[in-house]
Amino acid sequence: MESINRVVVGVSGASGAVLAVQVLELLSQNPSIETHLVISNAARQTLAHEVGPLAVTALLEMSDYIYDIGAIGAKIASGSFQVSGMIVVPCSMRTLSAIACGNTDNLLTRAADVQLKERRKLVLLARETPLHLGHLRNMVSVTEMGAIVMPPVPGFYQKPQDVSEIVHHISARAIDLLGLPLRQFARPWDGGAREVVSSATAALR
Ligand SMILES: Cc1cc2nc3c(=O)[nH]c(=O)nc-3n(C[C@H](O)[C@H](O)[C@H](O)COP(=O)(O)O)c2cc1C
Repeated sequence: MESINRVVVGVSGASGAVLAVQVLELLSQNPSIETHLVISNAARQTLAHEVGPLAVTALLEMSDYIYDIGAIGAKIASGSFQVSGMIVVPCSMRTLSAIACGNTDNLLTRAADVQLKERRKLVLLARETPLHLGHLRNMVSVTEMGAIVMPPVPGFYQKPQDVSEIVHHISARAIDLLGLPLRQFARPWDGGAREVVSSATAALR
């Protein structure tokens, strides 16, 4: 029997709330993954605004365990609770800054801090544009502490047909960064050079 991989999913109030829905959908499809969800108060607003009034309910239904943002005594606030890692999707600049400073003012930032202190994976889909020096410095700080900063930027080399393909690809890449002992979620790059060569060859015919 496959062992259970516990993953903490933190959702903060940056734009890109749909990424949280997609990440949880992908994780919930794998029975060997147990999800622990915490949503910030601002994220409840962005989810409703960007995805719709039922977005929060959908997230709660797809998660195995749900925690209140103020529940700083919850299991995921302790390093003794073994988890494989945590994704913050999307990660606002406020939450990034709190993590960078070790300011564990709510359960989301406390759980992120726990990943760092326990030397576990922490993937931050940090989203803002443009970025000021403080944002960049916070990204450097969390990277120095062991987190992975993955801004949710589309990879156009995959030639996405619509927004849902972009959302799927970013979400799958983020999950892959957790390094779970599972099959890769994202479709790997298959070498665009071959396509270019074959179309060039076709043009010569
Ligand atoms: C519709 C909407 C979009 C937002 N987009 C961003 C964003 O992309 N990045 C960001 O850092 N903050 C964004 N914010 C502001 C954050 O929600 C705000 O700073 C909040 O305090 C973050 O709190 P949290 O980190 O606890 O979720 C947005 C707010 C709203 C209402």
